[in-house]
Amino acid sequence: EKSGYDHFMLKEINEQPTALRQCLRGRIDELDGTIDLDDIADLDHDGPIQFVACGTSYHAALFGAERLRTAGVQAHAYLASEYASERVPVDEGTLVVGVTQSGETADTLRALREAARAGATTLAVTNTVASSAARECDHALYIRAGPEIGVAATKTFASQQLALALLAFALSDGPTREELEALRDIPGQVQTILDTTDARAVAEAYADADAYFFIGRGYHYPVALEGALKMKEITYRHAEGFAAGELKHGPLALVTQNTPVFAIVTGNGETARKTIGNVKEVEARDAPIVAITDGESDVTRYADHVLEIPAVGDLGGSVLANVQLQLVAYWVANLLGRSIDKPRNLAKSVTVE
Ligand code: M6R
Repeated sequence: EKSGYDHFMLKEINEQPTALRQCLRGRIDELDGTIDLDDIADLDHDGPIQFVACGTSYHAALFGAERLRTAGVQAHAYLASEYASERVPVDEGTLVVGVTQSGETADTLRALREAARAGATTLAVTNTVASSAARECDHALYIRAGPEIGVAATKTFASQQLALALLAFALSDGPTREELEALRDIPGQVQTILDTTDARAVAEAYADADAYFFIGRGYHYPVALEGALKMKEITYRHAEGFAAGELKHGPLALVTQNTPVFAIVTGNGETARKTIGNVKEVEARDAPIVAITDGESDVTRYADHVLEIPAVGDLGGSVLANVQLQLVAYWVANLLGRSIDKPRNLAKSVTVE
């Protein structure tokens, strides 16, 4: 069952290389350099794209929408529970993508149904064959992560990120050779992280912190949100994820010597340099800094701890950085003796609005 692991969550974190390989299987044509998504072979769309999702799946949706916008496609991610109140314009020309691991989340199903009533084409990106979302939508793309028992979504988030990257390429210009190779290499790089991570030592250093903050920009912003959600969910500790640039607009007032700040920084371009600027702001307030980085920039100079990831650019780097954050949350919760697989007050599948 747990295959020797103490918790399903740790087992599922360690299953990520396999899950990601399953997600890619048969979907990359190495010879042609193209992406083939058989599940949605008859989906032909070139209008705006809206994502609807909740919780962790919403963070994956933010990531997918950004990848599409990078390719010039109009795309935006909405919280499914806010979709109706926000009066999002939707019509026959819109593709609405519900990202839902279980395929049974009530808020997401409702948003998809409203979009369908307005004439939109609907697509479920899900882990669950024959789920309500898969059955009700016009199309379904499976993330193929395998069953996930832990309430905290781990391998399904990584698989959603990868499936949404594939979808984004399939619905836009298609990947370059380098981008294709980068996608193909992700499962092996996740394995490298699992084999070499220092996340447990970081958790031990900060198990008594007052709060945990996570900052990132671009693709790393949804990962900052996800790092914080995982931490809250299984440790019951205060944790927040921020767009790095927002720190000085309020959250900086919370930063102290006892609030470690986890900064996700990859590459050495403008995005990295700006986040490093924010790292310096928190360093000046004596907050401990944990850099999740590929070592391409000098962020390590300001860091008290470094959680290394291979250098693969921002897109792949955000998948890899998240694995380190999953492990930090797991080990903090473990040290605190929490009910890791079944956190208090939470259910794996939220079937009420
Ligand atoms: O099954 P879904 O992906 O639709 O679930 C959405 C959220 O309830 C879910 O991602 C939740 O946030 C996770 N348990 C967090 O780890």
